[in-house]
Amino acid sequence: MKILVLNGPNLNMLGIREPDIYGAENYKTLESTVLSYTQKKNIECDIFQSNHEGVLVDMIQQAYGKYDGIVINPAAYTHTSIALLDALKAVAIPTVEVHISDLSKREDFRQISYVRMASIATVSGHGIKGYTEAIDVLLNYYKNK
Ligand code: DQA
Repeated sequence: MKILVLNGPNLNMLGIREPDIYGAENYKTLESTVLSYTQKKNIECDIFQSNHEGVLVDMIQQAYGKYDGIVINPAAYTHTSIALLDALKAVAIPTVEVHISDLSKREDFRQISYVRMASIATVSGHGIKGYTEAIDVLLNYYKNK
């Protein structure tokens, strides 16, 4: 199994950015948490972060035919990006949406998620651990298929 983990804008600022909301762990820790978990589970994994919507669209398009699953934290693009939704629909790769914070307890403008419409599940509010839970969702999806 091969998965792609994508992170959107400002997630490279983890640890510095609003630690009361996003925690004290930095992006390197997020990466190493994901990579050590996938290694343990015998999953091939690539992980990327970009602040640019078009780059994320390119990465989703390039995933076509290469990955069995996508874990995506689109960050602020969650709430705005029909382009990311369309890209995910185009490649039709099973996708799990993840958010570090609990969106259901935040501002009204964070209640809409376009990417959710192309996702098999959403994990929200479990911090960095949410990424390993999202990977488990993909594992179970293929186990029960
Ligand atoms: C986020 C939540 C988004 O609303 C926000 O814009 C982010 C991070 C999260 O992981 O909790 O940048 O996706």
